[in-house]
Amino acid sequence: MTTIGTPLSPAATRVMLLGAGELGKEVLIALQRLGVETIAVDRYEHAPGQQVAHHARTISMTDADTLRALILKEKPDLVVPEIEAIATPVLEELEAAGVVTVIPTARAARLTMNREGIRRLAAEELGLATSPYAFADSLEELQAAIDGGIGYPCVVKPVMSSSGKGQSKLDGPADVRPAWEAAMSGGRVAQSRVIVEGFIDFDYEITQLTVRSNGADGAARTDFCEPIGHVQVAGDYVESWQPHPMHPVALQRSRDIARRITEALGGHGIFGVELFVKGEQVWFSEVSPRPHDTGLVTLITQWQSEFELHARAILGLPVDTSLRTAGASAVIYGGVDAKGVRFEGVEQALAIAGTDLRLFGKPESFVKRRMGVALARAESTDIARANVKLAAKKVRVVAA
Ligand SMILES: Nc1ncnc2c1ncn2[C@@H]1O[C@H](COP(=O)(O)OP(=O)(O)OP(=O)(O)O)[C@@H](O)[C@H]1O
Ligand SMILES: [Mg+2]
Repeated sequence: MTTIGTPLSPAATRVMLLGAGELGKEVLIALQRLGVETIAVDRYEHAPGQQVAHHARTISMTDADTLRALILKEKPDLVVPEIEAIATPVLEELEAAGVVTVIPTARAARLTMNREGIRRLAAEELGLATSPYAFADSLEELQAAIDGGIGYPCVVKPVMSSSGKGQSKLDGPADVRPAWEAAMSGGRVAQSRVIVEGFIDFDYEITQLTVRSNGADGAARTDFCEPIGHVQVAGDYVESWQPHPMHPVALQRSRDIARRITEALGGHGIFGVELFVKGEQVWFSEVSPRPHDTGLVTLITQWQSEFELHARAILGLPVDTSLRTAGASAVIYGGVDAKGVRFEGVEQALAIAGTDLRLFGKPESFVKRRMGVALARAESTDIARANVKLAAKKVRVVAA
């Protein structure tokens, strides 16, 4: 049974978010609405989620001792990782000691922060269809893996990286050395391991948002959102829409894959399962055991956004994944390096029918930093996509 206590009192239900960016901010808002006491942790001050939480803490989350000390001091009921770059062994240690509950599980956080962990689980333990792949620890090993069967075109990625950082597509032997060098400088930590994947010539890719929550009988149940289509540029999402039309066989296969990988990771919460689709064929790519950036579109398309679904599921509450309307999202990049910015053109953007905006409130802008997102709803995803791109284009980020 779930009870929620008064925030800032001894009865409070306390939830700590590790990572308080734009996705964490929306989870925190959803938790606030349910009367939960929130602690937003990030590595820099005034992170978006810290601005809407009861408590803000700024630490290096990759430092095991600092992270352990903070969790032991705050004693939250739930620890919710919102980013990958966390000292996950500490979460496993504290979970095993019965000190905290980690969402969805500490093991899921560890497996998904490294491409090797999740790929081996999906392909080798569960037998899910994935791109052909190999791991390499040097330029020579990378070349040997490509020559030994992966072939061209292929994709090289650091095992620890996200948002396309350090990632390259290789069309021939001349691309191997530059790809290795890009991976070495683009990884999240000093880690020389890369994954090389055969390039999948997919028709489209989707995010299958999948929620594991408590059913009425107390057993875990799995619910699916409508598929989200998206466009990635240089490994980073720029546009998404929902629902993405799918062949019924491909949809069924996508959900079978999503059910199996999320069951294997376990726990409660939302997962973003990334899939490649060609005709009726479906390949598993990767999974986030937390809200997914392409799922920002659900802020306008679903009765309960992916953030509200996550908040409810982790608290043991029932969820409703039904769609409200067709819609789309488009990313607003900084386009400028500046501390303190102004958003211009907001009123022109919002004058477009059915549109909305989220401006994240990040204290510093970079050319390629995501500073906001435009949202649109319409009778069809085509109209929503056209309108949302117009809206995003109206917003300009200028140095203050
Ligand atoms: N093997 C592949 N074949 C074809 N396209 C690929 C392959 N791997 C990656 N891509 C493309 O690159 C995008 C980013 O890849 P991936 O999701 O593995 O990286 P990421 O750094 O985790 O990105 P994000 O954090 O944004 O999810 C994919 O969504 C897809 O468009
Ligand atoms: Mg991805």
